[in-house]
Amino acid sequence: MIIAKSRKDLDRMREVGELIAEVRETLRSMIEPGISTLELNEVAEKMIRKRGAIPTFVGYKPYGMTPFPFAICASVNEQVVHGFSNKTPLKNGDIVSLDMAATYNGFVGDTAFTAPVGEISDDLKQLLKVTEECLLLGIEQSRVGNKVGDIGYAVQTHAEKYGYGIVRDYTGHGIGRNMHEAPQIANYGRPGTREKIRAGYCFAIEPMINMGTHETKTLDDKWTVVTKDGKASAHFEHTIAILETGPEILTLTKEQKAKQNKGKTEKVAG
Ligand code: MF3
Ligand code: CO
Ligand code: CO
Repeated sequence: MIIAKSRKDLDRMREVGELIAEVRETLRSMIEPGISTLELNEVAEKMIRKRGAIPTFVGYKPYGMTPFPFAICASVNEQVVHGFSNKTPLKNGDIVSLDMAATYNGFVGDTAFTAPVGEISDDLKQLLKVTEECLLLGIEQSRVGNKVGDIGYAVQTHAEKYGYGIVRDYTGHGIGRNMHEAPQIANYGRPGTREKIRAGYCFAIEPMINMGTHETKTLDDKWTVVTKDGKASAHFEHTIAILETGPEILTLTKEQKAKQNKGKTEKVAG
């Protein structure tokens, strides 16, 4: 069952969305050659707890899995998702995907991005750009009257133009009081298929796009997902709410929201 959120629920989703977006931007500003993912994890965990929230990933334990041991997932280069933080310094030319979530007042916000470390190759730049575009195109389809398959179709169509592999083993999801709620939101699909999208639904849209094959495998740590061919992978995620008027991105900072509103007023004024 897909849970439609009440107006009060949506306000709480907005609060936790903004909170985790602030964490995301703090981490983004810290990424440079020499810093380790363990340092980034510690900053994230402290920041989340300081604001009275819970790092949702710590101890997260899907059925049959070992509990996840960190506040963030940190996945470098060929790592797709669910990477463990460690002390190895990030180096110039790497890419790093950071995924994070917080629970606050009973609701969850979930967001991820992939960032360059120092100067990266043009191929990697394109992978990051296209994956973020896939996210925005997926969000654009998240409207009352559309279906979940429309989201996957938009993501897939864009990624395939570049010959990228679309990860199939992991998907986006509904989100609310739980991090993972129905429906699953695949990053591929056919238009007009799957569940109807209704007002009040909250989704985490999260394309995971590979430079090479779409196939993945899991490392011996039981969590870290890597590409089968060892080629790079990128991941961008926002938590959004479906309003009658269209999608609202919940995982934006105050600053990012202000910028968005300024753009809207200027368009109206102009
Ligand atoms: N944040 C992931 C997602 O976007 C889930 C991570 S689960 C964890 O859905 F246990 F690895 F933290
Ligand atoms: Co996530
Ligand atoms: Co998610």
